[in-house]
Amino acid sequence: MSGPRSPRRPLVAAAGIAALGVAALGVATPPAAEGATRAKAPARAAAWTWRLPPNFPTPRVPRTNPMTQAKVDLGRFLFYDRRLSGNGTQSCSSCHVQSLAFTDGRARSVGSTGEVHPRSAQSLANVAYNSTLTWANPSLVRLEKQLETPLFGERPVEMGVNDRNRARVLARFSRDRAYRVRFARAFPRSRKAVTWPHIGQSIAAFQRTLISGDSRYDRWLDGRARMTASEKRGAELFFGERAECHHCHGGFNFSEQVTYAGAVETNRTFRNTGLFNIDGAGAYPEPNRGVFELTGRPQDMGAFRAPTLRNIAVTAPYMHDGSVATLQDVVDFYAEGGRNVPDGPNAGDGRASPLKDPLVSGITLNDQEKADLVAFLGTLTDRAFLTRKSISDPFRRR
Ligand code: HEC
Ligand code: HEC
Repeated sequence: MSGPRSPRRPLVAAAGIAALGVAALGVATPPAAEGATRAKAPARAAAWTWRLPPNFPTPRVPRTNPMTQAKVDLGRFLFYDRRLSGNGTQSCSSCHVQSLAFTDGRARSVGSTGEVHPRSAQSLANVAYNSTLTWANPSLVRLEKQLETPLFGERPVEMGVNDRNRARVLARFSRDRAYRVRFARAFPRSRKAVTWPHIGQSIAAFQRTLISGDSRYDRWLDGRARMTASEKRGAELFFGERAECHHCHGGFNFSEQVTYAGAVETNRTFRNTGLFNIDGAGAYPEPNRGVFELTGRPQDMGAFRAPTLRNIAVTAPYMHDGSVATLQDVVDFYAEGGRNVPDGPNAGDGRASPLKDPLVSGITLNDQEKADLVAFLGTLTDRAFLTRKSISDPFRRR
């Protein structure tokens, strides 16, 4: 994916999606994006309208789970409801907090039974557009499938729903009158509306509405906000060929892997950025060896998805394991062209890793330029997204 030279119009050009045409308009798109043109969509589902920022394509929606307001409303309640965990202590929002762009502020997440997750909770901003889900799993492509991991996973335990308590957890919802009404509205054709598949479908539909595209940088692009001189220099570095950030964090979502309704090409690239090099051959520590954990292929060692940088100033600490504390540290890391871990069990010089992506080759940046890059990253924060009511905790102030 190649980027533009001018920071003034990077969004579309860097996305490589200039040919989006009508889909990029985003307003008044038909329901159930994927299947919409095939007509015959049920009348009730026909009410969905995406409200998307300029340059954002229409999200891809599985034909089996069309968007409806009732489903999104139900999904919002479920996303924020602690009764959805086995011991009633955790909801999705325990690790995906709106004010932190749906991350949890920790290096590594902690599940409902106290187990520490090997990885850092990811931002859910624009998660509808990710061609694969989580840090390093090429085969996980549906939100409806992904949420089975936090709900039912045992390694580590997150929400701790299992064969012993599954029926009991479901009964918390089928016995609740308000929920029975919400489920019936969301799934009007089902005789039995309160089911696990319906819980998954509605949470997935809700997550597809977590759209963030109104940062100060976006507003500056269409002349509605100002950027400081330092922020502008940072943008030029970001989109330029010296710092090269945009190759992996480009496009409308400042990410690499993007898909959307009608996408011709779906990017599923994973990259090794030289965070570790334990054995001189590029090894990362278990169980965080990236795509290698699933494929066992030597070339997948340390390969991770380049995540969105939208709202990045509020999602510290950084990287799959939360091992980089601040944006200043991130920029230092890229300037060095990898990380040297001097001692301890993970000692090794990531800068010399043979598996490191050639685009992470070290950048000569003076202190001012580093500060400029950090300042630019700060303009990607979308304040409205962090406080938007329609995606906030519905149990608060009620
Ligand atoms: C204990 C904390 C925790 C809880 C609870 C939790 N998550 Fe997560 N979430 C994480 C972590 C950690 C990751 C990264 C997982 C990985 O890479 O293996 C993640 C990743 C994700 C992703 C992938 C995002 C992306 O950019 O690809 C989605 C979607 C998601 N979670 C949704 C949910 C939903 C829905 C729930 C509730 C059913 C939930 N999470 C509950 C910690 C949590
Ligand atoms: C070769 C592709 C590539 C290039 C070039 C690149 N990145 Fe990254 N970036 C990644 C990948 C992959 C990750 C996740 C790595 C991991 O967790 O192991 C990442 C992670 C990050 C993170 C942390 C994200 C989070 O949610 O924790 C930030 C911030 C970041 N990059 C900023 C930059 C900046 C600034 C530049 C330019 C100086 C840049 N990147 C250049 C691929 C790249």
